[in-house]
Amino acid sequence: MKVEIIILLGIFLSFNLATKELQLLQVLTRHGDRTPIFPLPSKTVSWYCKLTDETYPTTSSMNQNTTKLNRIHKRIYIEDRELLAGNCSAGQLTSIGAQQHYQMGLQFRQTYIKNMKFLPDQFDSNLIWIRSTDIPRTRDSVQNNFRGLYPPQTSLSYDEVFPLYTVDFDFDWIYANSVLCPRIGFLAQNLFRSSEWINHMTQIQTLTEELMEIFNVSESEISYIWINDDLTCRKAHNISFPDGVTTEIAEQVHDEAQWELAAIYAYQEVANLSIGLLVRDMIQAMEASINKTSELKYLFYSAHDSSVAPFLQAYNVYDGIIIAYAGHIVLELYYDEDVQKYYVQMIYNGNPLQIPGCDSTYCDFDFFQSVSYQIIPQNYEALCHSTSNEDFLDDFFWNLN
Ligand SMILES: *[C@@H]1O[C@H](CO)[C@@H](O)[C@H](O)[C@H]1NC(C)=O
Ligand SMILES: *[C@@H]1O[C@H](CO)[C@@H](O)[C@H](O)[C@H]1NC(C)=O
Ligand SMILES: *[C@@H]1O[C@H](CO)[C@@H](O)[C@H](O)[C@H]1NC(C)=O
Ligand SMILES: *[C@@H]1O[C@H](CO)[C@@H](O)[C@H](O)[C@H]1NC(C)=O
Ligand SMILES: *[C@@H]1O[C@H](CO)[C@@H](O)[C@H](O)[C@H]1NC(C)=O
Ligand SMILES: *[C@@H]1O[C@H](CO)[C@@H](O)[C@H](O)[C@H]1NC(C)=O
Repeated sequence: MKVEIIILLGIFLSFNLATKELQLLQVLTRHGDRTPIFPLPSKTVSWYCKLTDETYPTTSSMNQNTTKLNRIHKRIYIEDRELLAGNCSAGQLTSIGAQQHYQMGLQFRQTYIKNMKFLPDQFDSNLIWIRSTDIPRTRDSVQNNFRGLYPPQTSLSYDEVFPLYTVDFDFDWIYANSVLCPRIGFLAQNLFRSSEWINHMTQIQTLTEELMEIFNVSESEISYIWINDDLTCRKAHNISFPDGVTTEIAEQVHDEAQWELAAIYAYQEVANLSIGLLVRDMIQAMEASINKTSELKYLFYSAHDSSVAPFLQAYNVYDGIIIAYAGHIVLELYYDEDVQKYYVQMIYNGNPLQIPGCDSTYCDFDFFQSVSYQIIPQNYEALCHSTSNEDFLDDFFWNLN
């Protein structure tokens, strides 16, 4: 009894939400629903997109007038000239995906503007920083997310300009980029050659052979991750599966793709190399907020499943489930005036997570910071170009659940 009371007291002392004040908000998200990226061999299905984007060139300075064309151009994919039959590009954000991000933006508006009064009523580029990979679906996800957070002021006017920071895709470190960091690919190749992987493949050989027959392809052309991707897209759009693919096969393909993805990110070095520099960006944003060298309140990163999964894995909180469209991690930095301490709360798809080693879902900033610094690779460049595999598979087989 006594012990329990002491524990309770401890929780109270270190955790009193009433005196905690939100100081910095960061969000890392996957884009919304999209068309397939590597469609299944037969072009029997056509994809039609109602949603597209419209652009105009603009000057570099955000505050200056743009070239003021008063006109924009709408992108229209010519029918049946793309990888996918129809008028969508591969991996294009769909209307469903736009809606998913819009809903998220609306929910953030309710939480952080209306309820907590943390973010300002109007967009302010001194306080809000938006980052995206330079891919149409992630940029379009940003626009729809912020359409919910800050509904446009006027209709049919392009006077509101929100900066959106990006980097050439091959140079970007906010997703598992094996061009920038070839070691990610090297480690994955090692994994595919490992006896654990090969044994696993033997276990699913029957399924592999079934798929080879259904798609009339050789074994080397079977990729569970990409077959599952196409089937997932079809499911979301009520498009029937290819002949021969039953619901049961689709489920088996899904489970296998999930196992493979989780196995890749469960490889701790892959996870750290994939997301370590984004972790550095995010922890530095917190430090700058704490030491008052930055007045930013909200940083939004629009990225991919290969961003969210390694991020969760790096902090040891990944459940191995494929990251859903618009799946997102919220990192809240709080200051507790009473005890003069900072706390970080990580929330995944609305559920607060307790990082191993933290007392509660509100993690002591000092501890969170030290875990984060372990994730950030030292000598990133040299390591990324290294082909040493002395630690090969040392930390691969965590519990895949
Ligand atoms: C693509 O085709 C569909 C069906 O014909 C049409 O409704 C849609 O407007 C087209 N998309 C664009 C961007 O023109
Ligand atoms: C932008 O252009 C409009 C008219 O074209 C002008 O009224 C306005 O002052 C300009 N704004 C800036 C910041 O230069
Ligand atoms: C299967 O593919 C081979 C060559 O790739 C082709 O010759 C054969 O006609 C295909 N079979 C069917 C049933 O489409
Ligand atoms: C697919 O079908 C379900 C159930 O009939 C429906 O709720 C959903 O809106 C449909 N989705 C699309 C993209 O048409
Ligand atoms: C504040 O934090 C930033 C980000 O980590 C760092 O670069 C900067 O040196 C710090 N400034 C001071 C005064 O501590
Ligand atoms: C990866 O990050 C974790 C922190 O979660 C750390 O414990 C581990 O040493 C790092 N591993 C590698 C191989 O970088």
